[in-house]
Amino acid sequence: MKITTKTISSLKAERPIVAVTAYDTPTAAYADAAGVDLILVGDSVGTTQLGFETTVPVTLEMMLHHTAAVARAQPKALLVADIPFAIAHDDFSKLLDACRQLMQAGGAQAVKIEGGAALAPKIAQLIAAGIPVLGHFGLLPQNVHQLGGYRKFGRGEAEKSALVEDAIALQKAGCFAVLCEMIDGTVAGAIANELKVPLIGIGSGPHCDGQILVCNDLLGYNAGYIPSFVKQYAQLGAAAQKAFADFAAEVRNGKFPS
Ligand code: KIV
Repeated sequence: MKITTKTISSLKAERPIVAVTAYDTPTAAYADAAGVDLILVGDSVGTTQLGFETTVPVTLEMMLHHTAAVARAQPKALLVADIPFAIAHDDFSKLLDACRQLMQAGGAQAVKIEGGAALAPKIAQLIAAGIPVLGHFGLLPQNVHQLGGYRKFGRGEAEKSALVEDAIALQKAGCFAVLCEMIDGTVAGAIANELKVPLIGIGSGPHCDGQILVCNDLLGYNAGYIPSFVKQYAQLGAAAQKAFADFAAEVRNGKFPS
């Protein structure tokens, strides 16, 4: 049965939610066959697939292209697409149009928006317009140039209260779930207890209602930086390199084609 935003919200009371990113049809099909609950077409497509250093250069067109590719796998998992850099801070009509395109042309069932309490009023307006939203607070990678890098959030009292405020504001706005990135594990646990909607964590410890990882990181298919919280469940990069080398050797020594 197709997983809906309602299913994801209700899983909080039942079991941990399992979410991964995917950016293409075969990866989405494999993740879906493995039974994940949610597939996110993250703007991490920029750093994992397109060779950018940050997610800032990712455009709506790129997100549409990759979201539609994932949708063609016809996953049972809930399909969520990221709103790329700065669009959530544009006029509401432009934000609504981007969401509409990701859902109508891209085939997403919901969108994810980076931003806490400050964006909650716009998110509430989107939800009133029929756009399901997955909130995202804590580390916001789209703000990397303001932050001067990526870091953990929630260590001091002021940051801790700001995170709680963000989570509550996103829930009040009507998000069906919220994602926290790189926040202190104890703070994440306290927020998960406080929220009625699920808190899905990345780099935020074991006390969330679910976990999400970037597929390239968990599959070991990432030539770049791997965050320390990631567990690699495979080494697909090394397997691919070996396969290419075996092919090259067999072509060169006349073994292939036989
Ligand atoms: O773009 C992305 O992959 C994300 C992660 C936090 C999952 O937003």
